[in-house]
Amino acid sequence: MQKLEVFGANKLKGQIKISGSKNASLPILAATLLSTKKVYLKNLPKVKDIETMINLLQSLGSIISHNKKDLVIDNSKQEKFFASYKLVKTMRAGILVLGPLLAKFGNAKVSLPGGCAIGTRPINIHLKALSKLGVKYKINQGYVYANAPKGLIGSKIRFAKISVGATENLIIAASLAQGTTILTNCAIEPEIKDLVNFLKKIGCKIKWIAKRSLKIIGVNKIKEISYKVMFDRIEAGTYLIAGAITQGNLKIKNIDSNIIKTEINILKKIGVKIFIKKNEVHIIGNKKIKSINIKTAPYPGFPTDLQAQIMVLLCKANKKSSIKENIFENRFMHVAELNRMGAQISTKGNKAMVEGNINFASAELMATDLRASVSLILAALSANGKSVINRIYHLDRGYENIEKKLKKVGANIRRVN
Ligand code: UD1
Repeated sequence: MQKLEVFGANKLKGQIKISGSKNASLPILAATLLSTKKVYLKNLPKVKDIETMINLLQSLGSIISHNKKDLVIDNSKQEKFFASYKLVKTMRAGILVLGPLLAKFGNAKVSLPGGCAIGTRPINIHLKALSKLGVKYKINQGYVYANAPKGLIGSKIRFAKISVGATENLIIAASLAQGTTILTNCAIEPEIKDLVNFLKKIGCKIKWIAKRSLKIIGVNKIKEISYKVMFDRIEAGTYLIAGAITQGNLKIKNIDSNIIKTEINILKKIGVKIFIKKNEVHIIGNKKIKSINIKTAPYPGFPTDLQAQIMVLLCKANKKSSIKENIFENRFMHVAELNRMGAQISTKGNKAMVEGNINFASAELMATDLRASVSLILAALSANGKSVINRIYHLDRGYENIEKKLKKVGANIRRVN
């Protein structure tokens, strides 16, 4: 099994180009199922989750090829509506094919995503909302069997809780439903806006009618298009923190700083120097970091997907900080590993108290989930000596060429078998 060896504590200096967004690419790939014409996608990140989604689409009958840097998806002959456990178990976003398959065939059998390290990850909100579009479903032996005997019919749906995946599934499904759907209390993550932009480009009629409300008029004609997926804001945030924690000097490129305002403001508040240019954020790490209290929240709040990374940086603050995790119930698994590196973090329920003034000690470590893995790299980058990070397959699900990108800016990091 591959591992990463990190020799700290170099100051990172130079430029890092941010890849396309994994979490925008996944629903957009699922949404290509609606199309009967070719779709050309640009800027998909080369990460495992995207490979898995491509395999899932192929298992459903999509014909997928490469044309220069584009991924070309031809769903004109796609006709299967069975998403197997084998493909959905490794990546919960597999559930995103449920909405499009129902919209296209009025029928779907999709494996339940199951739990994962960070929480139980139910899909009750997806199912309840789909049933408002006329979907009947039952759950049997780990699969959702869903069908819409009269086809999907537009409706008014208010999500009981903000859910990124449920919002995406419903937007996609409603795009081909008969009549009008109004969705309220939607998630408004930038990746959802990217999905809406993609769907509009293929010919769907979707309009934001209030901050968290969408009006969708079902269509039956789809266009052939080319679309460039947005940048990965979590990858950008991770490298900003890498610059800060190593007291480095990094230019994070190919991004839109407006989308990561919350993260930038928090970094500024705790004393990191940030200069914003068009498509670039320049960060200069400061020796003195101030403590802060942070809570994760749906966008535009602070992202849960950066909680582990900011926690590492707050270990360097002048005083005690606190982090409240409001999205997932079990997202502090990095704490035990960080404490093994000398951090002093205690947790109570969904709150973590983070002592400052910590000098991380290098160690052999175990990655537990995608973002936890990268937080261990950040700690290892600032620790003197050699750290070894095991189980990096988690990391490869969501970070394109992480060791190459870090090496290019001066990190001493290598992948070993
Ligand atoms: C997406 C992101 C993930 C991010 C998360 C929150 C992708 C592929 N993944 O995950 O990286 O951490 O948003 O920003 O884009 N919930 C229910 N019932 C449901 C659905 C969700 O109770 O039917 C709960 C979840 O357990 C969680 C919360 O709602 O506690 C938010 O989950 P959701 O926004 O749906 O996250 P994902 O779409 O799974």
